[in-house]
Amino acid sequence: MTTDHPKPPRRPRITGEGRMPGDPSREAMVEAMIRVDHAGEYGAVRIYQGQLAVLGRTKAGETIREMAAQERKHLDSFDRLVADRHVRPTALQPLWHVAGFALGAATALLGPRAAMACTQAVEEVIDEHYAGQAAKLGDDEAGLRGMIEEYRADEIAHRDRAVAEGAEQAPGHALLTEAIKAGSRLAIWLSTRI
Ligand SMILES: [Fe+2]
Ligand SMILES: [Fe+2]
Repeated sequence: MTTDHPKPPRRPRITGEGRMPGDPSREAMVEAMIRVDHAGEYGAVRIYQGQLAVLGRTKAGETIREMAAQERKHLDSFDRLVADRHVRPTALQPLWHVAGFALGAATALLGPRAAMACTQAVEEVIDEHYAGQAAKLGDDEAGLRGMIEEYRADEIAHRDRAVAEGAEQAPGHALLTEAIKAGSRLAIWLSTRI
């Protein structure tokens, strides 16, 4: 004999469920997410500008330009969100302006494969970062969650493209990507808070 257990209706998920006492409010949490994502997309645009300053006229330039165009789109969306929701942007934007460009130019000077290794490293960190955010956002923030999931898919595609273009053959690949990942995680930590 079989019994049919009707599935209980799915309870809507609310942003910040499972927060502990003393954790930031739901609003503060979402604000910090928008602030750090805006900073990250700004940094991405600057990294690619730095790479294009060096490799713009080479074969790799085409790939970099296509990825940069998507980063521009991501940044434009977060620019609008920052304005619409009156989020204070990170105070560190002048730092990301310089550091992003410098990272892009420095890796590009090591060669096109090192430039691709930079993209691979940054996008692996952003993939984790966006996945973590999407998991914290509830149905009350379905729009933001959908946007983050869409951009996460773009970033994963950038990572795959960079690997296809020889990122893993870059000289000193392990050391280079570990350093860039550590820097990216620090930048995320700082831009969430400052
Ligand atoms: Fe992006
Ligand atoms: Fe990207």
